[in-house]
Amino acid sequence: MQDKKVRKIFNSISFRYDLANFFISLGIERYWRSRFLKMISGCEKKILDACCGTGYSTFGIAGRIKNDGIIYGVDFSSEMLEIARLKSERHLSSAAREQNMIIRFMEGDVTCLDFEDNYFDFITVVFGIRNVKDRKKALEEFYRISSDKSRLLIMEFNYPQNKFIRKIYDFYLAFIMSNLGAIITGNKEAYSYLAESIKNFPDVISFCTLIREAGWKILKVRPMTFALCTIYFAIK
Ligand SMILES: C[S@@+](CC[C@H](N)C(=O)[O-])C[C@H]1O[C@@H](n2cnc3c(N)ncnc32)[C@H](O)[C@@H]1O
Repeated sequence: MQDKKVRKIFNSISFRYDLANFFISLGIERYWRSRFLKMISGCEKKILDACCGTGYSTFGIAGRIKNDGIIYGVDFSSEMLEIARLKSERHLSSAAREQNMIIRFMEGDVTCLDFEDNYFDFITVVFGIRNVKDRKKALEEFYRISSDKSRLLIMEFNYPQNKFIRKIYDFYLAFIMSNLGAIITGNKEAYSYLAESIKNFPDVISFCTLIREAGWKILKVRPMTFALCTIYFAIK
């Protein structure tokens, strides 16, 4: 799907995005996010949360950082960022406050970022890379702006390979997720897109190849819950 359409979809569901996520994943998403956060050492200083959306991932990551680092949340949907900035004003995580952690939200396309070479020591992408049209370009851009030995941590959905699980998942995508998403956000098209984007996302092996082709060395691949979601951990 074209970037313009993806942006339009996220702009249209921004105000109910966090709520819809919880319900359509039947709560499992929170567990996946907690597993993801546990893979952050906390010593990182300059962090990019790419495709940060409403900042759900960004605030979670900020809460894990043990020092006074800076975290940039970048997204190309102005409405998703608007929610992130509102949340930032209202309830910036107490952990982030205590550590003088700086959180900045910026509008931008992750395939062409306005940061200098070798700037970041940690890059995260939570349920975002699936939506990026030119994923290779984004992974290369992350490589360019990362310093030597920087880490890349990505979490993304997968379309299950097991035929039995796939049947159940197809039912869930077509009837539960699409309908719940449509009821909560009033936008059925957005949740049909979400289902399609999960089906069209490369399998774990192909996505690992793409990460490697962009220059990264993969350290860990962690599939979760019948491989419905995978965490990819790589180093420059
Ligand atoms: C499913 S949301 C994920 C939000 C957040 N990371 C989270 O944990 O909930 C995906 C986000 O990717 C953004 N996105 C997709 N393609 C992008 C691109 N090329 N550049 C920047 N943001 C992009 C969308 O605007 C959307 O906000």
